[in-house]
Amino acid sequence: MTVERISILEYKRIVLGVTGSIAAYKAADFASKLTQAGADVDVILTEAATRFVTALTFEAVTGRAVYTDLWRTAGGESLPTHVAHVGLAEGADLILIAPATAQHIAKLAHGFADDLLCITALAAKCPILIAPAMDGSMYESAAVAANVARLRELGMEVIEPEVGRMASGMVGRGRLPEVWTLLGAVRRALGREWGALHDRHIVVTAGGTREALDPVRFITNRSSGKQGYAIAQTALDSGAHVTLIATPNELPVPYGVELVLVESAQEMLEAVLTYSAEADALIMAAAVADYRPEETAEHKLKKTGKALQLTLVPTVDILATVGERRLQTGRPHVLVGFAAETRDLLKNARSKLEKKHADYIVANDVSQPGAGFGADTNIVTILSADGSAISLPQQTKSAVAEAIIQRVAARLQTVPRRHEPDEC
Ligand code: CTP
Repeated sequence: MTVERISILEYKRIVLGVTGSIAAYKAADFASKLTQAGADVDVILTEAATRFVTALTFEAVTGRAVYTDLWRTAGGESLPTHVAHVGLAEGADLILIAPATAQHIAKLAHGFADDLLCITALAAKCPILIAPAMDGSMYESAAVAANVARLRELGMEVIEPEVGRMASGMVGRGRLPEVWTLLGAVRRALGREWGALHDRHIVVTAGGTREALDPVRFITNRSSGKQGYAIAQTALDSGAHVTLIATPNELPVPYGVELVLVESAQEMLEAVLTYSAEADALIMAAAVADYRPEETAEHKLKKTGKALQLTLVPTVDILATVGERRLQTGRPHVLVGFAAETRDLLKNARSKLEKKHADYIVANDVSQPGAGFGADTNIVTILSADGSAISLPQQTKSAVAEAIIQRVAARLQTVPRRHEPDEC
């Protein structure tokens, strides 16, 4: 599977340290995905790693020289020492060691400097991420746990290994996380360094709400949640703390997001009111039901063979409620809504912008192919409270998310961060 370019990774220099674990083969796929996403990946293989994987594999997927010892690349060129260790550390935007063995975790926790990877980590000023991989009983040992705690004290981020089947055949916590998790961890760490939204709290809603008829049936809509999830991921890439209030779906959860699962419009309302009270921005990408059954049957409704009449009553408009509250509290600073329309797109969207006191409405004609529910692309016009409207061509939901987050970040530029003193 190929990966699309990811803005936060483009032209970033990532040093990928690979140590001697059976999971080293997964690091080749990860190096490939990072490269496809736009990063320049410098791989350091420890001596033990070269017993599991070859430098040639990594050279082929990254298109760059691979480092295997202090003085030489795998290609055999000898390197000036400052290039080989200090140079790698100085040029790196991020170092990720994946997989990290118990041996290297111990060495890094105690400042050892006896191989290129340890020296590079010691010399680096950029964020360092460690993804341990080993047998579950080793990972749970007191010594490894103490070393992992020490790495965290030293400011390194440890990506928790996953629970699953190990090479030994045993099941435990020690598996190297999947590529998407590692990629997510790298994105979040870079976002915190470089993103326009670091120290900001962004709340995003996603998916169609479910309004229960009885314990086994509900009324819902065609929303897939994809656009909301793409916005949450882009906000993470920009360094924000992101709360994603979503209805159940099959989408991968973005790494580092605070996920709050809800079902009904009422549950979403309560979660949004709680989480957005102190937030910097709320982006309502969810398709909230406008009506719910007046009554939810306690037991499964049985068929009678006759017509069934349902009485539907209106739900609360979440965006409008937050818009009203904001007039008093000033929070959230930025309010973004969507308008899903099948006709009179701009007229309906403009009226929603005003009625709901939003700063932006992202309008899409959900009847167009390549737009709206379930699609991987979207065609939107972003209407602003200042009267402007920008129509974007058909593009991926990630690209639409970037356009939205850029506007949110621009608006927040003049708003002090919580721990910054107000300018006087
Ligand atoms: N919305 C909401 N609460 C509701 C209904 C909608 O917060 N009960 C939000 C949506 O999340 C979206 C915006 O309001 O950001 C517009 O939703 P949309 O379904 O397009 O419009 P409605 O306000 O429901 O109006 P209509 O159904 O008449 O188009």
